[in-house]
Amino acid sequence: ALVVSSAFTAFPVASSAQAAEDTPTWSREDASNFTLTDENTAPNIDSFTDVAPDYWVWDTWPLRDRDGSLAKINGRYVQFALTASKEYTWAGRHDHAVIRTFYSKNGKDWEMGTVPYDEDKALGFRQWAGSAMIDENDKIHLFYTAAGRKDEGPTFEQRLAKTTFEMDYDNKEGFQVKNNGEHQILAEADGVYYETQAQKTGDIIYSFRDPWFFQHPETGEEYLIFEGNTGGTDKTLEADNIGNVDGPIPAGAEDYNGNVGIAKAENDDLTEFELMPPLLEADGVNQQLERPHVVQKGDDYYLFTISHQFTFAPGLEGPDGLYGFHANSLFGDYEPMNGTGLVVANPEEDPFQAYSWAVLPHGQVISFVNEFYDENGDFQFGGSFAPTLKLKLKDDTSEIKGVMGEGEIHG
Ligand code: FRU
Repeated sequence: ALVVSSAFTAFPVASSAQAAEDTPTWSREDASNFTLTDENTAPNIDSFTDVAPDYWVWDTWPLRDRDGSLAKINGRYVQFALTASKEYTWAGRHDHAVIRTFYSKNGKDWEMGTVPYDEDKALGFRQWAGSAMIDENDKIHLFYTAAGRKDEGPTFEQRLAKTTFEMDYDNKEGFQVKNNGEHQILAEADGVYYETQAQKTGDIIYSFRDPWFFQHPETGEEYLIFEGNTGGTDKTLEADNIGNVDGPIPAGAEDYNGNVGIAKAENDDLTEFELMPPLLEADGVNQQLERPHVVQKGDDYYLFTISHQFTFAPGLEGPDGLYGFHANSLFGDYEPMNGTGLVVANPEEDPFQAYSWAVLPHGQVISFVNEFYDENGDFQFGGSFAPTLKLKLKDDTSEIKGVMGEGEIHG
């Protein structure tokens, strides 16, 4: 009853339930004891410089080379970010998201560029988060989420998509985008490993979004890592989703079934992908494992994802934060870092000040300013780059070691 046949035959497993048995879990036991400490708590944000005064700016990702290092075009770093005109409300921005470029010579003073694609040709009613890679022929592959359909308004279907283009810099004109390619769908939820919209239960939107390009440092194989929910209609929690906890599991916990998905590239041009079983599942724990990405350091593989207080399952409490999982190979047995998984949290007095952390080379962690109280105690919406954090990773632990400028990155 769980199986969508075409996707099912592609993998040598008996059912999604069996696939789930091998998938590492973030269990209710793991997610039971979050504590804010000096190692995991970001410093307070009291004010910020608005990088794009007419636009809300949120999820951000830098242009990277195939191997994940930060790329430059004519000596400039490039960042891509979700943006929406400030004529929309802060909450309404998600319905109108488009991806814009930002560029910087020194990695800290950013200038806004343009929308690097034709908005009419882009897939989805709006474009949500993704990643960007420049290949050896200077072609930029912009992976994004096609959210909804052009003619349907802001509905919640999500598909992994891509477009390509090139970017040139010249001192007079700034950045020019040229040779725009097609927009293509790369993957859709299969209903086996990854829940379809029709299979969703509970009140929070389902996920099949946020493709993050990753080249395996040892095999050279290429992947997209993304945010999903566990596929199938049987939502029964297994013992390893729960772990050792006291008392009954609150009703409705089984509706929270976030996972970290992975799809393998089948060609060099990165237009064909095959869905694989998830890298991690949080069934009974959390509905959204957003913008997942992997950072490799020697034998250590760190799987990072962001999540919200409101997406933890009934009976669990956790902060809006960056969460991390450690294994010794890409498809390893991921265990929550620091015991619980918590890597970066906002300060207690401003629990929603930043969000959408992404861990880049050298432990640089970018994010955006979300909502905070300023020096006068007045509530402020953000919508711009937050100060970059410096994170130290050692074995399966992490520690915030310092703060850099707003949106600051160095290769
Ligand atoms: C994270 C997120 C992403 C999504 C985007 C939509 O902040 O929820 O998962 O792509 O925001 O605005």
